[in-house]
Amino acid sequence: MIIKVKSLTLCKKSSKDKMAFRLKGVILQKNHKMHLLLLGSGGREHAFAYKIAQSAKCTKLFIAPGNPGTSEFGTNVHISATDFPAIKAFVLENAVKMVIVGPEAPLVEGIFDFFLEDEDLKNIPVIGPSKVGAQLEGSKAFSKAFMIRHHIPTAAYNEFTQANLQEGLEYIEQQKTPIVLKADGLAAGKGVLICSTIEEAKAEFREMLDGKFGDASAKVVIEEFMDGIEFSVFVLTDGKNYKILPTAKDYKRIGEGDAGLNTGGMGAVSPPPFVTENMMQIVEETIIKPTIAGFQQDGIVYIGFVYVGLMYLKTGELKVVEYNCRMGDPETEAVFPRWKNDIIDVFQSTVDGRLSTMNIDIDERAATTIILASGGYPQDFEKGKVITGIADVKDSMVFHCGTKQDGNGTLLTNGGRVLAVTSLHEDWKKAIELSNESAAKINYEGKYYRRDIGFDL
Ligand code: AMP
Ligand code: GLY
Repeated sequence: MIIKVKSLTLCKKSSKDKMAFRLKGVILQKNHKMHLLLLGSGGREHAFAYKIAQSAKCTKLFIAPGNPGTSEFGTNVHISATDFPAIKAFVLENAVKMVIVGPEAPLVEGIFDFFLEDEDLKNIPVIGPSKVGAQLEGSKAFSKAFMIRHHIPTAAYNEFTQANLQEGLEYIEQQKTPIVLKADGLAAGKGVLICSTIEEAKAEFREMLDGKFGDASAKVVIEEFMDGIEFSVFVLTDGKNYKILPTAKDYKRIGEGDAGLNTGGMGAVSPPPFVTENMMQIVEETIIKPTIAGFQQDGIVYIGFVYVGLMYLKTGELKVVEYNCRMGDPETEAVFPRWKNDIIDVFQSTVDGRLSTMNIDIDERAATTIILASGGYPQDFEKGKVITGIADVKDSMVFHCGTKQDGNGTLLTNGGRVLAVTSLHEDWKKAIELSNESAAKINYEGKYYRRDIGFDL
């Protein structure tokens, strides 16, 4: 339970002794002005806020811009996550001592470097990689070149621009189908096309170079198709040491049975039951260690999360599909409820280069997350529908993804992905049942969710 004491936000523990300790901790911390700022506004950030508010080191949490869910754990401030001058002013005025970045946009735009290069901000740590590090997500060509340079297994590829369009068309003709085309830059999760024929790939390739995804597709990566099952590994690193967080599998397609259009993610299961210890050893040796060593060799400053999207191929190989420079959404809503450490303690040790001394403590139970979306998503959908029934959910956590409150405090839908419903259970199938039952209790016009999360496991 979260209680608010004047400007303090803390998490009430069950026993009186623990409460007293926490209060003492808060008073001590208050003297050290451990105010924290979290950037972002989705379900991932609600899950971050939930974890941060539990920290004994958190005296006050601000979220910019946040959502109605994050406001249960701190104070939302009306600042965009990419408005660096406004963030600077806020951080200095409110004695913020650490900034935690949820989404990729501020990272790719260089918030880490902005803080480091500013006389007044340089001693305030930012949890998130440098601008160059964020290129692992911001540029597919950068991340593919990084993987090849450091011998990290990934699909064979080549990159092309208008300048060598003809070469690109010839390259496509030499490929097996399906062929994967990727816009180099950020394209809101839409920049990857899987083409089933050479002709389709050639036509799409031309369109991409002609601006189908704006500047993001001025360069196109053409990649070999990998046939297998995907899952993700999340790593926290200080650029030298690292800790592996729980794995998760995300369900990206809108329709049941993984049919239809790609979305930001319609559900997640952590851990995916098919991921064995042996597979994780291979991932650690062949992918995670060379990635962190690559940061060192390339002089890339990286203090934050690396999201490694993996393909477990039918051949048994494990290859990287993509890197992201942040936690996943909705994977965070499944992974963080399983993470038992004081998250700010872990962040502080990351910043101080003491990450190797931390033990990562994970709840053995499985977590499943189901996303409740707006009817029509990921295409056109309506907003502003009244949401009811959240209070009736007793066996799951409900994270806000796209919601807002009107002047009367009524909760309304405000995005394609509206809510994330997470349940924990020793048996992952039971956890899915719980999430499904809770999802059914929440109502708004046009509610849509996949009832088959985990169907393939
Ligand atoms: P990305 O943005 O690179 O993660 O790609 C988005 C999605 O496209 C991935 O999650 C995969 O489902 C799919 N994808 C990307 N690259 C490949 C590939 N080489 N082979 C098969 N599927 C891919
Ligand atoms: N769920 C996919 C992502 O966060 O990129």
